[in-house]
Amino acid sequence: MYEFKRIKRLPPYIFAIVNKLKMDARRKGEDIIDLGMGNPDLPTPKHIVDKLIEAARNPKNHRYSASRGITQLRLAICEWYKRRFDVDLDHETEAVATIGSKEGLSHLTYAMIEPGDLVLTPAPAYPIHPYSIIIAGGDVRSVPIGAGDSDYFNKMNEIFKSSWPRPKYLIINFPHNPTTACVEIDFFEKVVAFAKENNIIVMHDFAYADLTFDGYKPPSFLQVPGAKDIGVEFFSLTKSYSMAGWRVGFCVGNKDIIGALTNIKSYLDYGMFQPIQIAAIIALRGPQDCVTDIKKTYEGRRNVLIQGLRNAGWVVEPPKATMFVWAEMPEEFKKMGSLEFTKFLIKEGGVAISPGIGFGEAGEGFVRFALVENEHRIKQAARGIKKALNKGS
Ligand SMILES: Cc1ncc(COP(=O)(O)O)c(C=O)c1O
Repeated sequence: MYEFKRIKRLPPYIFAIVNKLKMDARRKGEDIIDLGMGNPDLPTPKHIVDKLIEAARNPKNHRYSASRGITQLRLAICEWYKRRFDVDLDHETEAVATIGSKEGLSHLTYAMIEPGDLVLTPAPAYPIHPYSIIIAGGDVRSVPIGAGDSDYFNKMNEIFKSSWPRPKYLIINFPHNPTTACVEIDFFEKVVAFAKENNIIVMHDFAYADLTFDGYKPPSFLQVPGAKDIGVEFFSLTKSYSMAGWRVGFCVGNKDIIGALTNIKSYLDYGMFQPIQIAAIIALRGPQDCVTDIKKTYEGRRNVLIQGLRNAGWVVEPPKATMFVWAEMPEEFKKMGSLEFTKFLIKEGGVAISPGIGFGEAGEGFVRFALVENEHRIKQAARGIKKALNKGS
């Protein structure tokens, strides 16, 4: 029997348990509404798909591409930052394209972390935030995402000061998956000052920059003067342009960190398929009303789910951003734990969601709904949940 140390440090994937139950029920012919994984169901806007097709017909685009992204893509990324956030970036030294942000942040961690290094990550967490550290041989210190950003900041400070060796790297992610927590620019100002004072590198995951509701405008970490001295930000086309399967993202900011990611990637990959890069340029430079349409669709679904849960007697605060609803479990089901509760909702309500425990211990007592089915199906899901809750209580 082979044993691999790095793999042994990874716990069993909890979402796989839920997935299997969902698939078993579907095989039996049951209609399961899937609000589990944050896998966008909306089609990629037509003008982006058309560009991909046109570029794929050109044999020049069939060769290996540039691992750090072709020049025009890096230029388009920097223009997008300037337009959106008035942040100046140099496309040669401060931007690198990635095969989705998950690839980028995992390889960046791999490039920077040495065995035994400590890293601060949010808790609960999008799994690759802590597990990229574990895979790289580092150790994680979790900072609980509590109520309000000053609360988070104070806890981070406390955990930093009580850790030895001192954490080297801080991962943050706002709007946050799974809790949907959001911050304002003053939070990032405090983070930059903290990082400078304590010599810590910051990696901000900005995957939900565009999926914001009720007029909320999320700040970019790089808007803070001096942020580029100590950190980088990841963005992804996955959610904003509904391009999940395409695998396109990028990382921008500090040139030494971008250099490290560019370097490790040059050993590991030959870049995204060039037609995908060309289509990504069109996404970033083209009309942005498709992004507004996508965000409005999620907002509509959010409203339907919150209302449906309310009708089922489950009152949840509507999120200001992301494509998720993070809900504290109804009191009478808490004893069950989030995994058993999730199994119960599949069986009795025909709805698959994600158990909070899948995002780490700090997620226990909560569940996450991904808004990846249409409003009609979400209404149906809420009726299924109501039936299940009535039966179980
Ligand atoms: C916080 C966060 N970061 C990154 C990703 C991954 O995005 P990508 O498709 O760009 O790898 C996700 C996807 O759900 C996410 O929620």
